Amino acid sequence: MASIIKIRNLDKYYGKNYILKNLDLDIEEGEFISILGPSGSGKTTLLRMIAGFEQPTSGQIFLDGKDIAGVPAYERAVNTVFQQYALFPNLTIAENVAFGLTLKKVPEAKKRKQVSEMLHLVQLSGFENRMPSQLSGGQKQRVAIARALINEPKVLILDEPLSALDRKLRKSMQLELRKIQKNLGLTFIFVTHDQEEAMTISDRIAVMNGGMIDQVDYPYKIYEKPATEFVSDFIGESNVWNGLVKSIEDEFVSVAVEAGEFIIPRPENIRVGDLVSFAVRPEYIEISQDSGIPGIISDQIFVGGSTQLMITIANGYVKKTMTGHVEDYKTGETVLVNFKPEKVVTLKNEGNDIYNAISHPEFSFLGGNLFGR
Ligand SMILES: Nc1ncnc2c1ncn2[C@@H]1O[C@H](COP(=O)(O)OP(=O)(O)O)[C@@H](O)[C@H]1O
Ligand SMILES: [Mg+2]
Repeated sequence: MASIIKIRNLDKYYGKNYILKNLDLDIEEGEFISILGPSGSGKTTLLRMIAGFEQPTSGQIFLDGKDIAGVPAYERAVNTVFQQYALFPNLTIAENVAFGLTLKKVPEAKKRKQVSEMLHLVQLSGFENRMPSQLSGGQKQRVAIARALINEPKVLILDEPLSALDRKLRKSMQLELRKIQKNLGLTFIFVTHDQEEAMTISDRIAVMNGGMIDQVDYPYKIYEKPATEFVSDFIGESNVWNGLVKSIEDEFVSVAVEAGEFIIPRPENIRVGDLVSFAVRPEYIEISQDSGIPGIISDQIFVGGSTQLMITIANGYVKKTMTGHVEDYKTGETVLVNFKPEKVVTLKNEGNDIYNAISHPEFSFLGGNLFGR
């Protein structure tokens, strides 16, 4: 697949504050890509520059191979749907959807035909003569999508378009958006701060962290192989450890954490004495009576089909999940905590390792609640 958008070395400063820093991103033609990150990470700023509402401080954005610096927003083959539906309250639904065509002075008959096609696409046929105030939130957002799509953009940008909707409606709109995108074969750039939404809806996810992209990958890869501690925290749940390499043997290394030693796969270019960060998902934590680091089961929670065990070891705790209702373990019981080395994800070092090692002496449990585990 060809890249429809290429972003290179993009920087954005407001005054002295950098908002986006040296950002690179390739978006493939026809893909549904989500930009996922916490509030304030720069998602909207990035979109506004792709759409042409904002100029980069430096760096380049290519659309279909052409540098679009200086191309005004209305001449870019990019349309945006915002979080707030922003329909014109005094225009009918048909007039709202037709807006872009009216500006272009498209003849009435042709306009009516296209409006009808667009309303059909978003499953609002028959709503032509209603006013926006007579529509529900989900319906208004579908009108906003129809109004953007009627301009036949190559790329549709959606900035947290579902965040004003209640959970149930959001779920069904996610499926609908995905269907519309696949039917039309268009490129969608979908912004969200909701990791579950990004996981459900996207072909790929770009995870933003403080104005930078930490990782761009398929949803399962982001979950299975998070590149940084931030990603493993933000997507689902992880047990994260920082430790010192004690010894190296072939493909494995022994890492000393506060409560003992774990065996993990050998990271590249590692030496004895180096600091390493690694993560293990709660479903891959094993407990036994014969090998591992001792811990005490401090809590058990049964949540819809699975059981979570909280195990205290040293100054922190480990989270383990199991399917079903497990009654084999008692609160207060001592167990040995371990995991298979192949389930370990070694994390890229972020910032100051010494600081990390001191601030999370043993490991830090990182929250999140992707699959309700
Ligand atoms: N026009 C502006 N002037 C100064 N700072 C801004 C402006 N727009 C956004 N910011 C800042 O840039 C950062 C990123 O904002 P934004 O792109 O809206 O993040 P997100 O969409 O991920 O929540 C925030 O710290 C925000 O306060
Ligand atoms: Mg935003």
